[in-house]
Amino acid sequence: MITCSAPGKVYLFGEHAVVYGEPAIACAINRRISTSIELVSSGKTRVDAMGKRLNCNSEEFKYACCAVQTVKRLFETDFGAEITIRSQLPSRQGLGSSAAVTVSTIKALAECLGIELENEAVAKIGHQVETAVQGRASPADTFVSSTGGVVFIEQTTTSHLSPLNIPIIIGATGIERSTSDVIASVARMKQKYPSLVTDILSSMGDVTRLGKQKLADEDFVGLGELMNINQGLLESIGVSDDALSRLVYAARTAGALGAKITGAGRGGCVLALAQDGNVKKVSQAIVMQDAQVLNAAFSNLGLQTE
Ligand code: PMV
Repeated sequence: MITCSAPGKVYLFGEHAVVYGEPAIACAINRRISTSIELVSSGKTRVDAMGKRLNCNSEEFKYACCAVQTVKRLFETDFGAEITIRSQLPSRQGLGSSAAVTVSTIKALAECLGIELENEAVAKIGHQVETAVQGRASPADTFVSSTGGVVFIEQTTTSHLSPLNIPIIIGATGIERSTSDVIASVARMKQKYPSLVTDILSSMGDVTRLGKQKLADEDFVGLGELMNINQGLLESIGVSDDALSRLVYAARTAGALGAKITGAGRGGCVLALAQDGNVKKVSQAIVMQDAQVLNAAFSNLGLQTE
């Protein structure tokens, strides 16, 4: 049996805009998903995720199942597999669980089949899987989950930035949603108001580029201000909602340097930055809004065979 694990992620800047070719900055976190795979002679593939066992054509495990189909197609091979997924990430809540499942499944399958795949190659195959499942996907999630660290992504170009030396706070509404549905709603809004939405997405791109400089300068006040501007732009394309906005404002009122949604939005999580001395106060403010604070920190660790 081979086990591979991969991290979840948060977006400092640029979710949604990155789907339309604008840049984004995403950071791996120290919460991970591990996927164990054993090839079986029956030829059937079954997935066991957190105790739930299903056949591999089930909607519920579509990323893992699509990863299996993609590996079979790309490497012109056929097999059955027992796949066991264990997760420290809430699923469908904007922390990149789909990308982590996808890349850890691809890597573990490759190892089982004796195929050598660098992590960046896994990320590229993972991007094909996410695109097939979601209709549209940027390369951001699978890249950061494969390589770890803080990543700047612009179209197909990716680079690592220096690690972020400030605590993060993740507030989880507990509300699950489908990334594809939220992406589709942005696409509909763009179709209805093409030049307006194109300008908003391009402004998000400008925010990300400025954010990259603030990160390099370790200007955390500036970084927080830009996160707040990014949140305003995300609000304007309809991907925030009442529960998320309440968490964002609670965090800011408690002294967070910046707070915004992370990931697709419309449910899921918010990300706040706070100085060391203020983490407790910001966390308590989030909990007071009936949300959960998930302990997490930035991580340089990417996809790994265990
Ligand atoms: O909510 P998540 O973790 O699936 O992130 C989605 C991020 C988007 O930019 C909306 C889509 C993408 O593929 O980058």
